[in-house]
Amino acid sequence: MTTPDITSALRYRSSSRAFDPRPVEPEKIAALVEAFRWAPSSQNKQPWRLIVARTEQARAGWDTALDPGNQAWAPRAPLKLVVIANPEEQPDHHGQQRCLVDGGLALHALLVQACAMGLNVRAMAGWNQDKVRTTFDIPNSCLVVALVAAGYPCPVDALPAEVQQKEARARVRRDPTEIVFYDRFGASGAAM
Ligand SMILES: Cc1cc2nc3c(=O)[nH]c(=O)nc-3n(C[C@H](O)[C@H](O)[C@H](O)COP(=O)(O)O)c2cc1C
Repeated sequence: MTTPDITSALRYRSSSRAFDPRPVEPEKIAALVEAFRWAPSSQNKQPWRLIVARTEQARAGWDTALDPGNQAWAPRAPLKLVVIANPEEQPDHHGQQRCLVDGGLALHALLVQACAMGLNVRAMAGWNQDKVRTTFDIPNSCLVVALVAAGYPCPVDALPAEVQQKEARARVRRDPTEIVFYDRFGASGAAM
């Protein structure tokens, strides 16, 4: 088995707020589900769930739950998702919130797959918990990890001016010397 070029897929992933309303084909949604469900999880518990908003009511509820900043762009997305984790299937262990780690890994796999297929995609933490739970009938035992908006790209000038400004911001990352330590927290050093 050859090693797939995963690094370029990881580097290619980015978040965007620019969506064409054209629907995403069922086979592409199926590919997103495949990426999501093949994520690793502690003890392979797979404590994740994914909701695809299909009906008018579900899609309107998803839109309404968004914080104002996200409401300025995300409702245009043709594909509206909810990522959920179930702590009953993956309880905290030694103080580790394992179900959120697992849910985050599945979320990341979905984001990478979406970009690799030419979709724009963006995860969101800005939404109202109660509204999401009510709209999608999510049991209290489960945690909502993120909402995700996805769709084919559209020209940025189709977006409201304030959203265009956000889209123009440079993507930046901390320098490795700031985030990688050797032997003890805070101790930076030369890479091996
Ligand atoms: C869990 C999570 C929550 C996020 N929440 C929001 C959000 O509410 N609104 C938003 O515009 N972007 C949100 N983002 C997108 C981040 O802002 C984005 O990933 C970050 O700026 C890095 O940019 P990049 O994804 O293009 O590398 C979120 C991303 C993640 C992973």
